[in-house]
Amino acid sequence: MKLLISIIVIWCCVKCVFTSQCYWNNACKYKYFSSKTPYEIIRGDIRDSIAKRRDFGNKQCEPISIWVTVRHGKRNPSTKFAEDIKAFLTYRDDIIASYKMGNSTLCAQDIENIKNWEVDTDMFVRHNEIDAEGYQELVNIAQRFKEAFPELLNEIQNKDYEILTAYGSRMTDSAKAFNEGLTPYNLTISEAENNYSVLAPYASCGRYQIDVRRNPNIYAEEVVYTGTAEYQNMKERLLRKLGLDVDLTSNNITAIYDLCRYSWEGINNKPSPWCALFTEEDLQVLEYIGDIRHYYRNGYGASKYTKILGQIPLSDMLTKFEEAKRGRGKTLVTYVTHATMLDMILVALNLHNDTNPLMGTHRNIYRKWRSTFLSPFANNLIGVLYRCSSYGSIDYDYNVALYWNELPLLELCKEGVCSWWEFQKLFKPFLNTNVDVCEFRWTTVD
Ligand SMILES: *[C@@H]1O[C@H](CO)[C@@H](O)[C@H](O)[C@H]1NC(C)=O
Ligand SMILES: *[C@@H]1O[C@H](CO)[C@@H](O)[C@H](O)[C@H]1NC(C)=O
Ligand SMILES: *[C@@H]1O[C@H](CO)[C@@H](O)[C@H](O)[C@H]1NC(C)=O
Ligand SMILES: *[C@@H]1O[C@H](CO)[C@@H](O)[C@H](O)[C@H]1NC(C)=O
Ligand SMILES: *[C@@H]1O[C@H](CO)[C@@H](O)[C@H](O)[C@H]1NC(C)=O
Repeated sequence: MKLLISIIVIWCCVKCVFTSQCYWNNACKYKYFSSKTPYEIIRGDIRDSIAKRRDFGNKQCEPISIWVTVRHGKRNPSTKFAEDIKAFLTYRDDIIASYKMGNSTLCAQDIENIKNWEVDTDMFVRHNEIDAEGYQELVNIAQRFKEAFPELLNEIQNKDYEILTAYGSRMTDSAKAFNEGLTPYNLTISEAENNYSVLAPYASCGRYQIDVRRNPNIYAEEVVYTGTAEYQNMKERLLRKLGLDVDLTSNNITAIYDLCRYSWEGINNKPSPWCALFTEEDLQVLEYIGDIRHYYRNGYGASKYTKILGQIPLSDMLTKFEEAKRGRGKTLVTYVTHATMLDMILVALNLHNDTNPLMGTHRNIYRKWRSTFLSPFANNLIGVLYRCSSYGSIDYDYNVALYWNELPLLELCKEGVCSWWEFQKLFKPFLNTNVDVCEFRWTTVD
């Protein structure tokens, strides 16, 4: 029996890897789309985790406070990217025509799916706003929280709760979705002050804005990568699938990639027919570009700033949990922000730090910095404070369970659960972070 199962498994994998020339029937579609990955594709599930367990070792524990920083949900492309996608979509009939002339390597069903694909007008109209899936991502996270921590969240009211958003309606909409998942009552949403002190300190960090955010040189490694044979081969394969006599700039290629990933529905598990234009390797090449961009803009490639700025929300977690220990804290604190913040948090914690920086000349397939898992839509860091007592003892102590995208964060403490002592040791250095490196305040909001 076991042998039979093994044979079937091996056969399926072999079939999957070697015999599927078409996209529509490829059972192992590549679903990792850098920071535009739907949350559903990579998430864990807080309900399955150790959070459900009320005893750690020989102790009895109860959750008393939750702290979460979450990225907004799946959103539409910005104006510029939407224009590029629209420009590409005007070639749809030509792609179909070139297939009919025998000048495209696409499969019949893939062409038919491209032909039948309906333009989602919302995607091109409500620039940057979260889409239906993005809204649902946040509703679902809150609902899973409620199932995992009913004693804390079932009756949540404004006095127990704080939700703060960074700038932009996609943040407020994500917060509304999160609240809707928590309770039918009307919970108040606060927008952070213009300086975004806790949940987006980079927005007001002058030197970071000048040296990194507005510095085109940070994309130098990306430019190097687009010149490699690996990238150029991807482009050649793409041209053969399109079968068009056109020139593709890297902006055109990004637009085609965007069309594929923005129209992929994670929660409905509905692949985008446009992804048929790429092979798995092509998607890995494009994913790497996303990794490089995040690395040099928000990650270890700009660690002079990111390491400092990432400490600010982390020190807030410690402060909030100290208040909760004293009985003066909130049941739930939620910050809704950008991928940038979550990337910086990783740097402050020295997580997924590669020994060698990400380079344009070489794509290390074993790299730790993978934006698909580190900065997808609705990306989140969760801390849960537990009050514990040993059986028969009247003294309390505390544990903090940490999660990344609802998976236990195993890198910092055993099984993702820190004793209070361990938690303090890790987070105390972040208190009173010195932001002198920013030099001056940036006041433009974007
Ligand atoms: C490439 O981009 C340019 C500039 O936006 C546009 O004019 C052209 O039609 C695009 N080509 C394709 C194949 O998308
Ligand atoms: C919810 O509260 C806000 C202010 O806190 C108010 O503007 C809004 O109208 C309320 N909505 C409902 C449905 O009560
Ligand atoms: C940022 O805003 C908060 C809340 O309004 C305020 O307490 C803090 O002092 C401000 N920080 C700076 C650097 O202006
Ligand atoms: C067929 O596709 C190739 C690119 O793969 C292109 O060079 C050629 O011009 C195309 N032929 C026609 C008739 O479009
Ligand atoms: C990342 O790792 C490198 C090499 O191991 C190390 O030199 C660097 O200090 C680390 N970065 C941070 C921000 O901890």
